[in-house]
Amino acid sequence: MVPPMIDEEDRAGMATLLAWWREMGVDGVLDDAGNDWLARADAVPGQAFSLQKSETAPETPRAAPAASGPARTAADRPIATVTSPRPAVTTDAPRRFPTAPPDAAALSARQAARQAKTLDELRTVLEAFDGCALKATAKSLCFFRGRPDARLMIVGEAPGREEDLAGKPFVGRAGLLLDKMLAAIGLSEDNVHITNVVYWRPPGNRTPTPQEVQVCRPFLERQIELVGPDVLMTLGGPAATALLGIEGGIMRARGRWREIEVAGRKVPAMPTLHPAYLLRTPIGKRLAWRDLLAIQDRLLAARGK
Ligand code: URA
Repeated sequence: MVPPMIDEEDRAGMATLLAWWREMGVDGVLDDAGNDWLARADAVPGQAFSLQKSETAPETPRAAPAASGPARTAADRPIATVTSPRPAVTTDAPRRFPTAPPDAAALSARQAARQAKTLDELRTVLEAFDGCALKATAKSLCFFRGRPDARLMIVGEAPGREEDLAGKPFVGRAGLLLDKMLAAIGLSEDNVHITNVVYWRPPGNRTPTPQEVQVCRPFLERQIELVGPDVLMTLGGPAATALLGIEGGIMRARGRWREIEVAGRKVPAMPTLHPAYLLRTPIGKRLAWRDLLAIQDRLLAARGK
């Protein structure tokens, strides 16, 4: 197809729009066509659980934008694009962008997570789950990489761009450093289980909100239960806060053992520094190294029991 001619004015307008998107944290294109979530208000992930099942529309192809109302320009269009099929909506859906009450979504998440008897089932449940608004702007679900029954489970903050493209946690630069850190204590993807406190990439790599963490939490707890690790390691402040309730900064919290109770079982947990932080601040590596040695000792002690 011959690309349409664009004049100087259009080009300048597009450059301004791209610069604004970049400023807003848009750093990748996920699909050829945009998804107009404003015209599809009742299919917005995160809102599904405020609807009764019978209220959701049957599966049909992507809805056309609402016929009425002022014509929209590219700048009006939301940037979210997704490739997976979504429930279709009626075109007279209200033009607003509501989000699910986090409690309702978390309750629904708890019910859904409980049904999963294996990690494969948990993945299936997560794929079908529309209660987390992050799903609207992410390309992929990033569930875990590594061993399903690992003795060490590692929990980071949230998938980034590389992870979103690959559909796996910690595959970018921070992931490469994490792999090197693990190798230093004789571990690899073959014997650890790596995940995050949220399963979809937050737009622009922002920190996940407490609501997003709350909605994903039942799945993470179920995941911990199904993996059954001897030791947990959290990476960075947001993961330590989200999983272990640690306040007051990771620098103070790191290196001290905590405990998390999941389904009646107590699991020792070590908060440490995030590899992305260590890439920016290599001097912190010696602190992370101490934490890794403590984890290695703990794993050896647990094996001896
Ligand atoms: N940072 C995280 O916290 N998690 C990832 O998966 C990648 C980078």
